[in-house]
Amino acid sequence: MSENTEKDTQNNTPDHKDVDSEKFYGRRMGRPLRKVSQELMDKLLPTLTFDKTLAHDPHADFDQDAKELWLEIGFGGGEHLCGQAKANPHVNFIGAEAFINGIALMLRELLETHIENIRLWPEDVRPLLDSLPKASVSRIFLLFPDPWPKARHHKRRFVSPKNLERVARLIKPGGHLRIATDHANYREWIVDHMKTNKDFKAQFDWNTLPTERPDDWVPTRY
Ligand SMILES: C[S@@+](CC[C@H](N)C(=O)[O-])C[C@H]1O[C@@H](n2cnc3c(N)ncnc32)[C@H](O)[C@@H]1O
Repeated sequence: MSENTEKDTQNNTPDHKDVDSEKFYGRRMGRPLRKVSQELMDKLLPTLTFDKTLAHDPHADFDQDAKELWLEIGFGGGEHLCGQAKANPHVNFIGAEAFINGIALMLRELLETHIENIRLWPEDVRPLLDSLPKASVSRIFLLFPDPWPKARHHKRRFVSPKNLERVARLIKPGGHLRIATDHANYREWIVDHMKTNKDFKAQFDWNTLPTERPDDWVPTRY
């Protein structure tokens, strides 16, 4: 977990042309969806998708006007996001995931649990990061991001100077970014990038990173 130490709260949204020029390399689709999942994608997803036109005032898209907005980048099947949303009912959550089969799993969970404080961003998170107001998010979770193990693919990794800049712009001063990985090389990569980033302060010694999961951790398949 790292704390955002950036103090300036003026809006400085990056140039959207940068976003358009960045390709999304992850998988969008796995196995074809079953009929019931496709129906959820067609009917339930539109009702839960975060309304882009409200990005300047994100809480306006929720049923409650919460004090805090938390964001999960790449929620996978949604286990962690649902667990956090249940445990923190007075927080509003946005979950971003570009993999359709993961989104469909999440929709099934949302249908069964009736969790109401989650909105979904079912596509590449980067345009969302650039459109939410500066210092509008209290916590960001980036859990087990794709490691892209081949050296020639490292530039596809989510942790990059540009994406850390995006995340730092969004997180409130004193807010938190939690990154987890079980990939040794990506771990070193993350540490190197975080060490050179001026906006975050580590909550632990970089040489003795915690290997235990924190108390509020919600397990996923990773
Ligand atoms: C290895 S999975 C981990 C999933 C989940 N966080 C977990 O712990 O179970 C990484 C996920 O991040 C998603 N992802 C990667 N880049 C993304 C992006 N730019 N926007 C949205 N989702 C992204 C991928 O589609 C993938 O499902």
